[in-house]
Amino acid sequence: MTTQETGVAFAFEDLLARSAELRERGGPVHHDEEAGSWRVLDHPAVSRVLSDPATFSSDFSGLTPVQEDFETFRKGNFVGMDPPDHRKLRTLVSQAFTPRVVAGLEPRIRAIAGELLDEVDGTSRVDIVDALAYPLPIIVIAELLGVPVADRPLFTRWAQVLFSGDQLGESADMEDIQRALDAIAPTIREMNAYILDHIRHHRAHPGPGLTSRLVEAEFNGERLEDQEIVGFVALLLIAGHITTTALLGNAVVTFDRNPGAAAALRSSPAGLPAALEEVLRMLPPFPELGRRTTKPVELGGHTIPENSIVMADLAAANRDPAFFDRPNEFHVARNPNPHLTFGHGIHFCFGAPLARLEGRIAFEVLFDRYRDIAVAGYDQVEFQNPQVIVSVRHLPLDVTPA
Ligand code: HEM
Repeated sequence: MTTQETGVAFAFEDLLARSAELRERGGPVHHDEEAGSWRVLDHPAVSRVLSDPATFSSDFSGLTPVQEDFETFRKGNFVGMDPPDHRKLRTLVSQAFTPRVVAGLEPRIRAIAGELLDEVDGTSRVDIVDALAYPLPIIVIAELLGVPVADRPLFTRWAQVLFSGDQLGESADMEDIQRALDAIAPTIREMNAYILDHIRHHRAHPGPGLTSRLVEAEFNGERLEDQEIVGFVALLLIAGHITTTALLGNAVVTFDRNPGAAAALRSSPAGLPAALEEVLRMLPPFPELGRRTTKPVELGGHTIPENSIVMADLAAANRDPAFFDRPNEFHVARNPNPHLTFGHGIHFCFGAPLARLEGRIAFEVLFDRYRDIAVAGYDQVEFQNPQVIVSVRHLPLDVTPA
């Protein structure tokens, strides 16, 4: 896509261009003097950071003052944990979320996608975010967790507050981060209270959902406390939809910009999984991941001091020319495609098989339903803040039924 056509994707392209320039000028590691943080910019160095949790910790709790709302949220939120606690919680959730469970969701995901598109039947202009990209993953994850699907406006609001980036300042230094945390604290409090109620309900009335499994789960003979399950459910509820919404919207935009590839996929949908990986490579929903150094470490010719913030730039690593031939071009069948969009190492995205399944089914259903799909006009497309999440907020399409 070109920058003139796509509003804020422009801002994402600016970020990419800046990272590429930093890498070409200074190598794989850049020290941002103003923010006091470090940015890691190529594929090997990003992989190294993500595969060494003993040096590059996911736990930031020591860097900001303790705040009760975040403490509850943090307890079971294993994406912010290091071994051995991380392993305990990830193992528990893996037991309830096996590949068989995920594969078994296919008919239900297809039915939900069909029902959602039935609701906009007869309209030739469809906002695909409102109609499908947002509700499909949230309904799937809400059903999995056993939380009321009818409460999804609440989940949308929470995700919007947590991921809009509206609270972020220009420099993202520690003061900015603290201000942003203060601004989202009331939302975290509301989410904690809602989820705690939900967990207590499942303890009293066990049901078929994942939450009941978590309530019953044991690790070395120990059960999880309700407070631990809160962050756990919050992580799945939010991470389990916002990123997949991003993938679906980004794929629609990418296919629109590459009509030849889209036509090939229509006639041979078996190519969809590879095409979606390429969308994920070029437009990673989370463009960067943060880590904290636990000790001084040599990386890319620099010594990074202990307790530094290190940003692993996934978007830049995914465009590393040493790893990807013509990295700024969309190759619908790129193979191999070792992108880092789902992370790497012990925190590798837990929901990747589900996101991939939802992506494939959504496009099979869309191609089946509509003979033609075109972005209605790039001036009408709204993007989120690409520093936080690379995703469309609104995406009106002109559709022609099959
Ligand atoms: C972890 C991206 C979909 C649940 C991650 C990480 C990334 C990521 C980059 C690693 C974070 C880190 O290392 O700090 C994505 C993308 C998705 C997606 C791009 C969709 C396109 C999902 C879905 C679910 C989910 C559908 C839930 C069912 C999780 C969880 C973790 C995680 C629980 C934490 C894993 C751990 O710490 O061990 N995701 N995700 N994600 N993701 Fe996803």
